[in-house]
Amino acid sequence: MAIRQLPPSLINRIAAGEVVERPASVVKELVENAIDAGASRIEVTATGGGLSLIRVTDDGAGMGPEDLALAVERHATSKLVDDELSYILTLGFRGEALPSIGAVARLSITSRARGAKEAYQIAVDAGRKSALKPAALAAGTEVEVRDLFYATPARLKFMKSERAEAAAIADTVKRLALAHPEIAFSLSTGERTTLRLEACPPGLLNHALARLGRILGSDFVDDALPVKAACGPVSVEGFAGLPTLHRPNGLQLYLVVNGRPVRDKLLAGTVRAAYGDLVPHGRYPMLTLFLTLPPDEVDMNVHPAKTELRFRDPNAVRSLLIGSVREALGAAGHRATASLSQSALERMARPSDMPSPSPAARHYTYASQGSPRAFGFAERAQAPLADVAAPSADMRGAAGEDDAQTDYPLGAARAQVQDTFIIAETDDALVIVDQHAAHERLVYERLKRALSNGGIARQMLLIPEVIELDGEAAASLLSVADELERLGLVVEAFGPSAVVVREVPALLGSCDVKGLLLDLANTLLEAEEEEGRRQLAARLDQVLSTMACHGSVRAGRRLSPDEMNALLRDMEKTPFSGQCNHGRPTYIELKLADIEKLFSRR
Ligand SMILES: Nc1ncnc2c1ncn2[C@@H]1O[C@H](COP(=O)(O)OP(=O)(O)O)[C@@H](O)[C@H]1O
Ligand SMILES: [Mg+2]
Repeated sequence: MAIRQLPPSLINRIAAGEVVERPASVVKELVENAIDAGASRIEVTATGGGLSLIRVTDDGAGMGPEDLALAVERHATSKLVDDELSYILTLGFRGEALPSIGAVARLSITSRARGAKEAYQIAVDAGRKSALKPAALAAGTEVEVRDLFYATPARLKFMKSERAEAAAIADTVKRLALAHPEIAFSLSTGERTTLRLEACPPGLLNHALARLGRILGSDFVDDALPVKAACGPVSVEGFAGLPTLHRPNGLQLYLVVNGRPVRDKLLAGTVRAAYGDLVPHGRYPMLTLFLTLPPDEVDMNVHPAKTELRFRDPNAVRSLLIGSVREALGAAGHRATASLSQSALERMARPSDMPSPSPAARHYTYASQGSPRAFGFAERAQAPLADVAAPSADMRGAAGEDDAQTDYPLGAARAQVQDTFIIAETDDALVIVDQHAAHERLVYERLKRALSNGGIARQMLLIPEVIELDGEAAASLLSVADELERLGLVVEAFGPSAVVVREVPALLGSCDVKGLLLDLANTLLEAEEEEGRRQLAARLDQVLSTMACHGSVRAGRRLSPDEMNALLRDMEKTPFSGQCNHGRPTYIELKLADIEKLFSRR
């Protein structure tokens, strides 16, 4: 077959295959154009999942008739000031979107250049351009795309359900809106408006947070830790969700590079390195980072849809991102999710058959109780809850130190409930601690520290413990015996399906060795299945976490007041003690003000 030069209509259709993959990509290109045109308000309408109609209206700079005619030509752009690709300040630069869309749909663009008296319209139907004509439009640009992919039936067949396409469009608009809080956005299905975002006042961190609240939910705002760092001309700002706020997928992870929302492996790596074992296996934190760097530090021209990019120095960017997020998380210390406490409070409804007190009665109870401190716990803690094993002087000792202890962030221990929860009091809140979860985190952090400080101290068991397992479990433990020894656990073979344990990490105290080994074997087998036979190092966190779980005060053990207070003080000192190794919170804090509301005192 002879080689022939393809006609422009076919070239555009081929290019369209890359640029407009689905309705959401059209929305992305058109909204990006509106942002580049300096719009302060962008309205998107998409009906039939964007396949019947997409309309994007903006109040940006608009185009005069000559520009309008050029805009639909291939490789025509107003955005490259010189012939270099290294200094791109706009979202677009390839000059491909409009001709590509026009090649596969019915495109019509109406626009009025700022200051011009008249608006003009141009239409392209499956690649056939019609002549320019005058039109009516107050300002800005309105782009309409009807019957997307009608000119390429093969592509049309690949579309998902209308609902899936509509969801992808909403996601696209949200991502762009999140990156540009200074612009007002709306999204409508033609029948109703599904998203309406007012423009936020300037000041990146604050206005970004207001917008993030609308897009990611108010939970995120309550639990967002500010992130801010810079290294030379590269800077990052944003918000990291507390590790206790996690989601089943990574869709709530956002990276914005120079105003462009991107999906980059860098973000996944940052999340893994910064949150690591703080979130449960298979769950994802919420994170939004805005990265700003000189345009020539990044190559945007890697992918036709411009959702991927390449950093000139990826390692520098990576360590800046990881460092900034770790710092934010570290600074939060023992903080746990506020939204959890909030939903706990909401569940604590007043029994419905109990009428709420009349204002007079309310006044009376308030007066009679005096200090809001008098919750009854202090008195009750004195006697019946005292540890049987602890001398009662302990309790008085703890109660005597009251005033000093309530100043601590987690307060003074007042009582233990169900041998599982510690109730503590601070100056303005009631704190409920899950003793097992909390202690587990402490042991885990100690094990990790010991490991990085030269090794985990071991303690010899008086009588070595023989543990029967099935052959596979025994083999999997023995295959990593050397590494386990480094972690303080000395295990040897004992017949075909048993192991003998001679030494355990000293930090674990007198733990249930058998339970630990069974759990460890399970952890190892699961990890093997999941990731193939990788180095134990990769599974280290999981092994340590299993150990910590066994070395901790279990739920169900009665603690003395001193033990309880010691645990609280330890938590305050330990980084990341707001959640256990499984990502559950270790404590919740109920503000007195909120409790008072429950009792209609406020
Ligand atoms: N909403 C808009 N407002 C003003 N000008 C626009 C708008 N959309 C497109 N244009 C003009 O049309 C040109 C071509 O757009 P496009 O095909 O998306 O390519 P690119 O954005 O890569 O330049 C742009 O460079 C811009 O000058
Ligand atoms: Mg464009």
